[in-house]
Amino acid sequence: MNTRNTIILAAGKGTRMKSKLYKVLHQVCGKAMVDHVLTQVEKTQMDQIVTVVGYGADDVKATLGDRTAYALQAKQMGTGHAVLQAEPLLKDEAGTTLIVSGDTPLFTAQTFEDLFAYHEAKHAAATVLTSVAPDPTGYGRIVRNNIGIVEKIVEQKDASSEEQEIHEINTGVYVFDNQKLFAALHQTSNDNAQGEYYLTDVIEILKQQGDIVAAYQMADFDESMGVNDRVALANATKIMRNRINRQHMRDGVTLIDPDTTYIDAGVKIGSDTIIEGGVVLKGSTVIGEDCYIGAHSEIRNSTLADHVTVTSSLLEDSTMASGSDIGPNSHLRPESHIGPKVHLGNFVEVKKATIGEGTKVGHLTYVGNAKLGKHINIGCGVIFVNYDGQHKHETVVGDDAFIGSNSNLIAPLNVADHSFVAAGSTITDDLKQYDMAIARQRQTNKPNYYQKLPYRGED
Ligand code: UD1
Ligand code: CA
Repeated sequence: MNTRNTIILAAGKGTRMKSKLYKVLHQVCGKAMVDHVLTQVEKTQMDQIVTVVGYGADDVKATLGDRTAYALQAKQMGTGHAVLQAEPLLKDEAGTTLIVSGDTPLFTAQTFEDLFAYHEAKHAAATVLTSVAPDPTGYGRIVRNNIGIVEKIVEQKDASSEEQEIHEINTGVYVFDNQKLFAALHQTSNDNAQGEYYLTDVIEILKQQGDIVAAYQMADFDESMGVNDRVALANATKIMRNRINRQHMRDGVTLIDPDTTYIDAGVKIGSDTIIEGGVVLKGSTVIGEDCYIGAHSEIRNSTLADHVTVTSSLLEDSTMASGSDIGPNSHLRPESHIGPKVHLGNFVEVKKATIGEGTKVGHLTYVGNAKLGKHINIGCGVIFVNYDGQHKHETVVGDDAFIGSNSNLIAPLNVADHSFVAAGSTITDDLKQYDMAIARQRQTNKPNYYQKLPYRGED
């Protein structure tokens, strides 16, 4: 039976990234480069997927999980040597093998399909995917003979000055007849500028033994971009961001200024939501329909229902129910769960708290480690005092309670439903239903005392 297989090369350290993080784990729009590659491979029908790991093997495995099999390349001796590590898993398969690098995050499944189709139509033993680079520096060059037939691939460091003029580059993606691939790999040598076993040499080897070698030139160079350093990482991110933004717009989301809107690959947004410029949406964030996300908001791993308004605020690992709003300049820290129609106004910080339907927290308030019921009114400048220096304690506020401005609620504390805290109170004892608590110094007025003070007003 003819099988289709993929080998993803992801064992390199990525020296040119100058990073503690292994190259293929660097993120493009919130997702590791090698994960982008695997995601596109998964959209193409495959019998087996093998990822070659080496540097950072455990981290790469933790990122990709059991979506792929793994082969270990203990020592990085080149791309050809890397592919050979998959030999024990694949060598007996009759069929076709796609090879792609973990550092080319922009390829689409459609391009892989087109490559397979071209390869099959040409009855080739190998087909290399090429593109025309405006600046080919660093890439392997495609050397064709005078009638346009591919002869070989020359690496940048091995290329003559004449070959360096070639703009058609090796994208690092190929399909091979599986058995011919492994047979030819055993014939490669490391007699080259980098002292490595190059996968690219297989092209010339197959060619010389009389096999058909084809080259399929894709139209869009951007899609084939390889990321070897941080400059290319930023370029790839820009292209991916543009792609993501266009998809959201096509799906019915209004982006006021897509050039300054930063949406991670995993984010979902409902139709008729409006997103202003400077907005950053990260991780697993989900936003419903008809929401408004104001300029310079950042939302990380949070879920917003429909009709939610966020104005210049930071939301982390939290949820907001339908019709709720926040901001400007407020902050949901992790594990904040905001109920329907809740109003969180200016300079409000919430952490590890649930807030019930219709409750209002208008201004300058900290709510931490708390459970708030429905239709509560929290005045200006209220502090949920949750930390005694050693432990965090919880405050519970019942439905329809009123917390006057500038109050401190010292946890652990239970403020019953339908109870009232007078403004300026520091509350240490629980309130029962219908209680009113007032905990502040009584005011003293001293008649004519103004005239005894040195202060004479503003002249
Ligand atoms: C490679 C190609 C080059 C092509 C370019 C496209 C070779 C020799 N060169 O060059 O023709 O234009 O990709 O982007 O193949 N890797 C391993 N083990 C190793 C070495 C590399 O797994 O021993 C992996 C890397 O992690 C990386 C991929 O193979 O994902 C490509 O290696 P890299 O060093 O980036 O090759 P380039 O110099 O970019
Ligand atoms: Ca590369």
